[in-house]
Amino acid sequence: MTNIPFGKPMIGDVERDAMTAVLRGTTLTHGPKCAEFEIAFADYVGVKHAISTSNCTTAIHLGLIACGVGSGDEVIVPAMTHVATAHAVEHCGAVPIFVDIDIETGCINPKLIEEKITQKTKVIIVVHFIGLPCDMASINAVAEKYNIDVIEDSATALGAKHNNKFAGSLGKLGCFSFYPTKHITSLEGGMLTTDDDNVAAKVRSQRAFGYDKGLGERQIAGVYDIASLGWNYRMSEGHAAVGHVQLSKLPAFLEQRKKNAERLVAKLSKISGLSVMPLAHKQSHSSWYCVNIMVSEKLTKSRNELVRLLNAEGIGTSVHYPVALPHSKYYSQKYPIAKNKFSQAQHLAANTISLPCGPHVSDQDIGTIIEKMNEILNP
Ligand SMILES: Cc1ncc(COP(=O)(O)O)c(C=O)c1O
Repeated sequence: MTNIPFGKPMIGDVERDAMTAVLRGTTLTHGPKCAEFEIAFADYVGVKHAISTSNCTTAIHLGLIACGVGSGDEVIVPAMTHVATAHAVEHCGAVPIFVDIDIETGCINPKLIEEKITQKTKVIIVVHFIGLPCDMASINAVAEKYNIDVIEDSATALGAKHNNKFAGSLGKLGCFSFYPTKHITSLEGGMLTTDDDNVAAKVRSQRAFGYDKGLGERQIAGVYDIASLGWNYRMSEGHAAVGHVQLSKLPAFLEQRKKNAERLVAKLSKISGLSVMPLAHKQSHSSWYCVNIMVSEKLTKSRNELVRLLNAEGIGTSVHYPVALPHSKYYSQKYPIAKNKFSQAQHLAANTISLPCGPHVSDQDIGTIIEKMNEILNP
């Protein structure tokens, strides 16, 4: 029986040993494993600082706070993203100002940003949609014109590049996720990347209650002051140990993802009635997080029927993302909008299916996905 999950963590003995070593010791948090993981991650992304967090959502929250976002401020957010992006804005007491996407890439449409900027706009959050970097040159130009910071939600973009620079090094700061289906996992976990010393210092302090001194900086154990309002958004030593091992495997994981994604795109593009979202666009190439297909009226099957049939054949799928956020229950009740707004994001939410291309997917699995897709659509 075919069993190709959408995502599968690739955990081996090295990760298990790393976790066990932490559990055999006495330093479970505030220790060297986080620091080692952070240094290696900063080096990979090509930034001065990487700061580990409990997940990507908390990294975005801390990033917004570090950019000075507070009550009543406005933050530009793409209408098509995971809810975490907008929720982080709401948690600051700020207002997410949604912008529709470019249907070709799924990324925020840079041409629609400027008209949404007001005196209250503090930050533009861009989301590198399923790992394809946004048109950062255009977005950074608008941000510079109005002196606004750019946060890259790079949750699914580890290893993606724009103009030969890694996602996470293209704005004021970047935020990554190590949730189990992502490029690398630390079970749960996140990382904030930045070249800005002030942002780094604020984030380091506020991820740990707003202490004025880290554990190693205190002259008398247990004695510190509280410099600001903070949270407990830290990563544990066990999570960091696993994440660090996973990072060393990232190049091999990415190679397999690229191979799988390119094969899938080449074969699926030939099926009439399906369009396949690109793996590269202008100066950007993807991190090959998944392969998104878009169904059209030319097919005899609806999106949801196709999902059910693929799942019944043992082919795991996902949807990125199932609702245009301004139309979701929470956001549409809080910020009512006309039904026809954000039409591109709505179209994507209703018509796409994400197919697996992670390192757990073999050459044979790719063949099976293509074969089953053809059987279902052209019986
Ligand atoms: C674009 C985007 N941002 C943020 C998140 C939240 O990540 P986490 O689960 O690590 O908080 C996700 C989760 O998949 C995501 O897809």
